[in-house]
Amino acid sequence: MARDQVFSEPRTHIVDFVFDETVAAVFPDMIRRSVPGYELVVPMTGLLAARAVAGIDSPRIYDLGCSLGATTLAVLHALASLGMTVPDLSIVAVDNSAAMLDQARSTVRDPRVRFVESDVSTLPFEPARAVIMNWLLQFLPPEHRAPLLERIRGCLQDGGLLLLSEKVHADDDATEAFNRAAHEDFKRANGYSDLEISQKRTALEQVLITDTVESHVARLEAAGFREVHVWFRCLNWAAFAARA
Ligand SMILES: C[S@@+](CC[C@H](N)C(=O)[O-])C[C@H]1O[C@@H](n2cnc3c(N)ncnc32)[C@H](O)[C@@H]1O
Repeated sequence: MARDQVFSEPRTHIVDFVFDETVAAVFPDMIRRSVPGYELVVPMTGLLAARAVAGIDSPRIYDLGCSLGATTLAVLHALASLGMTVPDLSIVAVDNSAAMLDQARSTVRDPRVRFVESDVSTLPFEPARAVIMNWLLQFLPPEHRAPLLERIRGCLQDGGLLLLSEKVHADDDATEAFNRAAHEDFKRANGYSDLEISQKRTALEQVLITDTVESHVARLEAAGFREVHVWFRCLNWAAFAARA
């Protein structure tokens, strides 16, 4: 796994973060060393998605913002581990970064998986049993979020699941300060220097815009989901399961 050194050299001008070839080349290392819980949330998402398609004929699963296909692979792995055979399953793995998809296509070679290069805000959805959106919604302009969730709700069959993971923020200053300080230590302990931490924070400032857990839940309910569960929380990271 190539080591993430994207922000290791001092920069005079820090441009907004993009998912380009440089990031794609080190992405598995970057996300594991930056996102608390990544190594739990991905396989758990796989299990939840696998359970959502049990006993369903020809189910479709979307993996939105699939990057290198880690969560798609987790779904396939979960099906195998649970001994589930799902006839005519299809997984549509979507990303708008050609660099990410190039690598994903060479890593995930499974006839059940189709990679699509598209912006999720304009992607037409077909009926689905599960939609996975791990750490993508936070990168969309805030005004695009509710319309996308409504379209996802609209494509989900009754009982289907949206599995959503996000960076969040706390709505009180003390919790926010505690979570931020603990996250910086998480990154230091994973080998990032203070320079890397601060340059990456600046690069993400305008592009990664968080919501609170409460606003996520309220927006999912307003989009028509009938059950919303917060199944993971660690500092400023949370994962939701919303049932249609
Ligand atoms: C943090 S990564 C997601 C990680 C991935 N879900 C995983 O589990 O490893 C965010 C991904 O969303 C993609 N992305 C960002 N905005 C997008 C959009 N509007 N439409 C589609 N993909 C988008 C990025 O290219 C990037 O690959």
